This record gives sequence, C-alpha cells and structure tokens, in this order.
Amino acid sequence: MFAPYLRVGGFCPVSTRIPLVFHGKRGACCLWLRNESNSVTEALVNNDPVCFQAIQRFSELLDRAKSLHEREPMAISLATADAAGRPSVRTVLLRAFDERGFVFFTNEESRKGRQIAANPRAALCFYRDALQEQAHIEGDVVGVSEVESDTYWGSRPRESQVGAWASMQSRPLDSRTTFETRLAEFEQRFAGQPVPRPPYWHGFRIVPDRIEFWKGKPFRLHEREVFERAADGWTVRLLYP
Ligand SMILES: Cc1cc2nc3c(=O)[nH]c(=O)nc-3n(C[C@H](O)[C@H](O)[C@H](O)COP(=O)(O)O)c2cc1C
Repeated sequence: MFAPYLRVGGFCPVSTRIPLVFHGKRGACCLWLRNESNSVTEALVNNDPVCFQAIQRFSELLDRAKSLHEREPMAISLATADAAGRPSVRTVLLRAFDERGFVFFTNEESRKGRQIAANPRAALCFYRDALQEQAHIEGDVVGVSEVESDTYWGSRPRESQVGAWASMQSRPLDSRTTFETRLAEFEQRFAGQPVPRPPYWHGFRIVPDRIEFWKGKPFRLHEREVFERAADGWTVRLLYP
C-alpha cells in the first residue's frame, strides 16, 4: 500500500522551485514544481511562519501516528457539504501536505466531488485514539495541478487504476456482477499498455485557514490550540476545552 506524504523540514520562503516529495513503502519520489505552475501562486497563500509552524506540528503528529503501525496511518475524515449546506463525511487518504494545503485524490463525479463543485469548502479530522490527539483542518478546496495528479496516478497499483475507470463512484450499482464485468472490460481495453488517468480523477487541495490541535488530558481538561488565518497573517491562540 502506497502511503506518501510531503515532509516539510523548516520554513522555506517561496522560491523558483518547490520540492514535492511523496514517501511510501515503495520508496520516495520527488517532483520539482517550477514557478510557472499554479503551485507557487498557491504557496503564497500560506507563506507565513505561523502557518508553517502549524504544518510542522501536523507533520510531527503524523510521525507519531505512523509509529502506531496502523494499516492506514494516513486515513483522515473529510467533511464536505452541498450547496444547501447539508454536510456529509467519509474517510480518505491524505496524500501530501505542505503550507499550500492538504491533498487527497478522488473521483470528481463522486458525491464528495459534486459537493465540492457546488461548495468548495471542506474540513478534515485526524484523530488517533492511541495518541489521544486530534487535528482539525478547514479551508477552501482547489484542484491540484495536472502534474501532481499524474505523478500520484503513476504511483498507484495497476489494479487500482483499472478500478478507478470501472467505478462510477457513489452512483447506484445494480449488482456486484455489473461492477466485475466493467472491471474485466477496462482490463481488456488497457491490456498491454499503461492505464491512463481518467479525466474525472484527480487531486484536491484543502488550502487551510484554520488548523486546530487537540491533546486529550485526564478529566476532560484537554488542551486546544488553534492556528487561524486573518487578513494580516496567521495567529495562534489557546481555546478552553
Ligand atoms: C481507509 C480508507 C481510505 C479511503 N481513501 C479514499 C481516497 O483516498 N479517495 C476516495 O475517493 N475514497 C477513499 N475511500 C472511500 C471513501 O471513504 C468513500 O467511500 C468514497 O470516496 C465515496 O465517498 P462519497 O460517496 O462521499 O463521495 C477510503 C475509505 C477508507 C475506509
């Protein structure tokens, strides 16, 4: 199972080249984003040392979560809402993060994808019971670059790639046999060649404007610290539990 994430090492002002490093059990690959890409524009959004501190804190939390040796250490709850504000939530895999935001990949025609199209805001909740820690992230949702989507798509097992073609994610399915037939059809269609990325399958980045860290304490005297983006930069403050 590939479980990549972007590691951040220290405050780095926007430069002409940004390293996007995916780490996984199959190794790591590095993609250099150049300044003509949208990524640098996105980087400017949260190019703030306080934001960077929050990202670093999240990175450290992930390291602690990874040390639990769970099957999916990058699993995270993703909440979206439709145009009327009706919320829904599900688990996705966090695939990369840095000061530009938190990246997951999905089918844009899925329920969450349609909700994001109608209402481009989302929230993430990362809770690990064994650590008694959680992080909450909120922000606007933007699409990642084609290069980022292609790079991650290329790291996926072929079976998952074929599955992404065969699955009309979130749409009604009359029987499992129908899905298995579609799987076989797409396997045959792409036999002997690389499986291309479907046009509806790509990455989304939640550009954070609020990141909260929660640490469980006895008798519910928990610690909470919230990082928020204001008009003049990021702030950090404590909250009552
Ligand atoms: C551990 C775990 C990881 C998952 N990762 C993803 C993911 O990265 N992308 C995705 O589209 N669905 C993922 N799923 C499936 C989603 O939870 C969900 O069933 C699917 O995306 C359809 O959601 P929707 O109908 O609300 O759009 C994952 C499920 C689990 C339990």
